[in-house]
Amino acid sequence: MAPSLTLFLLFLLSPISISSASSSSIPTIKDDQKKTTYIVEVQPDAKPSIFPTHELWYESSLSALRKTRTEPPAQTTSALIHTYSNIFHGFSAKLSPSEAKTLESLPHVISLIPEQVRHVQTTRSPQFLGLKTTDSAGLLKESDFGSDLVIGVIDTGIWPERKSFDDRDLGPVPSKWKGRCVAARDFPSSSCNRKLIGAKYFCSGYESTNGKMNETNEFRSPRDSDGHGTHTASIAAGRYVFPASTLGYARGVAAGMAPKARLAAYKVCWNSGCYDSDILAAFDTAVADGVDVISLSVGGVVVPYYLDAIAIAAFRASDSGVFVSASAGNGGPGALSVTNIAPWVTTVGAGTIDRDFPADVKLGNGKIIPGVSVYGGPALTPGQMYPLVYGGNTEGGAVDGYSSSLCLEGSLDPNFVKGKIVLCDRGINSRAAKGEVVRKAAGVGMILANGVFDGEGLVADCHVLPATAVGASSGDEIRKYISAASKSTPVATILFKGTRLGVRPAPVVASFSARGPNPVTPEILKPDVIAPGLNILAAWPDRIGPTGIPSDKRRTEFNILSGTSMACPHVSGLAALLKAAHPEWSPAAIRSALMTTAYTVDNRGGGNMLDESTGNVSTVLDFGAGHVHPQKAMDPGLVYDISSYDYVDFLCNSNYTTQNIQMITRKTADCSGAKRAGHVGNLNYPSLTAVFQQYGKRKMSTHFIRTVTNVGDPNSVYQVTAEPPSGMVVTVRPEKLVFRRLGQRLNFLVRVQTRAIKLSPGSSRMRTGSIVWSDGKHNVSSPLVVTMQQPL
Ligand SMILES: *[C@@H]1O[C@H](CO)[C@@H](O)[C@H](O)[C@H]1NC(C)=O
Ligand SMILES: *[C@@H]1O[C@H](CO)[C@@H](O)[C@H](O)[C@H]1NC(C)=O
Ligand SMILES: *[C@@H]1O[C@H](CO)[C@@H](O)[C@H](O)[C@H]1NC(C)=O
Ligand SMILES: *[C@@H]1O[C@H](CO)[C@@H](O)[C@H](O)[C@H]1NC(C)=O
Repeated sequence: MAPSLTLFLLFLLSPISISSASSSSIPTIKDDQKKTTYIVEVQPDAKPSIFPTHELWYESSLSALRKTRTEPPAQTTSALIHTYSNIFHGFSAKLSPSEAKTLESLPHVISLIPEQVRHVQTTRSPQFLGLKTTDSAGLLKESDFGSDLVIGVIDTGIWPERKSFDDRDLGPVPSKWKGRCVAARDFPSSSCNRKLIGAKYFCSGYESTNGKMNETNEFRSPRDSDGHGTHTASIAAGRYVFPASTLGYARGVAAGMAPKARLAAYKVCWNSGCYDSDILAAFDTAVADGVDVISLSVGGVVVPYYLDAIAIAAFRASDSGVFVSASAGNGGPGALSVTNIAPWVTTVGAGTIDRDFPADVKLGNGKIIPGVSVYGGPALTPGQMYPLVYGGNTEGGAVDGYSSSLCLEGSLDPNFVKGKIVLCDRGINSRAAKGEVVRKAAGVGMILANGVFDGEGLVADCHVLPATAVGASSGDEIRKYISAASKSTPVATILFKGTRLGVRPAPVVASFSARGPNPVTPEILKPDVIAPGLNILAAWPDRIGPTGIPSDKRRTEFNILSGTSMACPHVSGLAALLKAAHPEWSPAAIRSALMTTAYTVDNRGGGNMLDESTGNVSTVLDFGAGHVHPQKAMDPGLVYDISSYDYVDFLCNSNYTTQNIQMITRKTADCSGAKRAGHVGNLNYPSLTAVFQQYGKRKMSTHFIRTVTNVGDPNSVYQVTAEPPSGMVVTVRPEKLVFRRLGQRLNFLVRVQTRAIKLSPGSSRMRTGSIVWSDGKHNVSSPLVVTMQQPL
């Protein structure tokens, strides 16, 4: 029997087996209610020839699944949410558990991936903190450099009329480009130009779960109704715009990292989030359209790589030569909070820049407490002190079980709050929304105090009333002042000081920036790098006020936001510049250049970078290889390159099954080869991480094999300097690498030896060092991280 016929029959036959299996369980409606979205990958060449298209094949297989049960006849609308046909072959659909099980058992079905819902990673989400502006101007100015490169931004869409997306002086659209502008009622095809060369939207996954979108609240088009996508796109590749500012703050030139690169917007995020089935469709389309870089400031869920639609899509994109940078997440400063951690993704955390927006609190006792704000409206009366209260009613009562100090909607009593400055605690609702609650209750100002979890990191917001943000310990101090002053009336005011430049220290790792260790593969250090992510000035839509809250009627061409969402597009733009300078570099080579040239000191003259959440020195778990250094990354000397087959070896060494490896890579892996008798740490990564389990051992050792490729001077001699983690012995062989040509690859081996240390059961200790190769002109640095764990 021809293989196609066998498979075809399987499709017809297999539903019968479920119908008998499920015939005793009565109502199909019950089963229906449990339907969830799955992404299904199939072997595309298994399509029986009687189906003219894959789509018809998928449709028919789905209706075959359903017909066997007492369901109404197939609806006229398609049961398919999306079909995928480029980097991924298959479809997404809502399936009951039993349907999923049946599909999964079919031989030509490679995988079923349950959909996750992701979110954009600004710090608008209440649990997060942070904001910073970048002055990336300088690199490569307005030359034509980078104009052949296309950055695909997978996000909330775009506001195309912004000056940041102007196409003046740009050449014709690159000839390789296959994308287009999808026109809609509010998005005519003239919205695209030679700067914004593509715009598409993907909402079927969103609507299949939430029902049809309400078009008075969001645009069924690539147009951005949130602001996040406009902001990230202009950070990656916005044109020079002068003057730019938000409500008078951060006045100056606004420009993206790669001002001449082209942009393509792929809208996947909607009012309730970003759905994997839509995200995968965007990747699938973007790679086929011909993007060079994908920027993804979206994430939030950590699952094994083979069940993670983003990790899978990113692997396929990278396999096609597309660089993928993704935000690390805003779940910091706790350990293990980093997301988007697959080793083929460049994972970007957030640092501060040397600009801030001081807005200090002055208390009645004369004490000045530092705060930050980008409030731009009428100030408080100079010299006047205002009554200060904590929370919002005389009883300190609660709304829905939450203390009124959170300033939730309806929790403030206007009789109590009127004319006063209110101290509110972070949490539950967004920072700017608390200001709106205070304003509505007739308060004159707000002081927003971090919780213990937020620490001392501060985010400046465009508040709707005079308001400032203070750290957790400052919050304690103000509360103490209020309760001590209870006999007299506690008073305060807020002193807005505008924009301050040349702030030291900077950069500092932003409190909210998600941290390692890597929760899935501890042997791969994540995040990879940090980039500016606090108080970043970038383009903003006309439809929404700078706080994003509906009652905020202010309009501004630029807005200041914070988050790893803002850090990621800096690296996306930088990657486009690196690719323009080095068209032959792979995504891994680009990441290597960014990592080995990153710095870990701040602008105080050699001091180690600090962590905003504690004020202490930060570690590799906070910043990875360090803060990106655009100029140095252009000329790294050597790169650590990684091929798709190296990633397959890595997955073998991670003990994934052949089937799971295929789910990620679409490659049939033979994990039995002698070559693969290596270990996970041997992936040719630009950072080195060893994890030792002590198990009563006295001495432990491991080795790493690495390969560097010469991209600097044809004839060059590199000498190694190893800085061992304290108490450890690190040897590198050979100690000298002699290159005779460009593109030459040389291997070296790093051995790490250590004695066990005293640790209580279940605890661990991390120590860090570094390996630096230098030819006198280039320093090629890798962090070396060793973690010792005492098993329980
Ligand atoms: C859509 O949203 C608007 C504004 O929020 C609301 O007034 C309207 O009732 C909504 N329409 C539907 C069909 O839900
Ligand atoms: C920060 O440093 C201080 C002083 O060295 C130390 O007591 C504290 O534990 C450190 N905090 C953290 C979170 O490491
Ligand atoms: C994979 O399995 C081998 C053999 O059981 C084990 O030694 C190794 O530590 C495992 N690797 C990982 C990454 O789990
Ligand atoms: C390389 O690093 C060394 C030691 O930190 C430093 O003295 C030297 O200036 C660096 N060279 C370059 C080219 O950055």
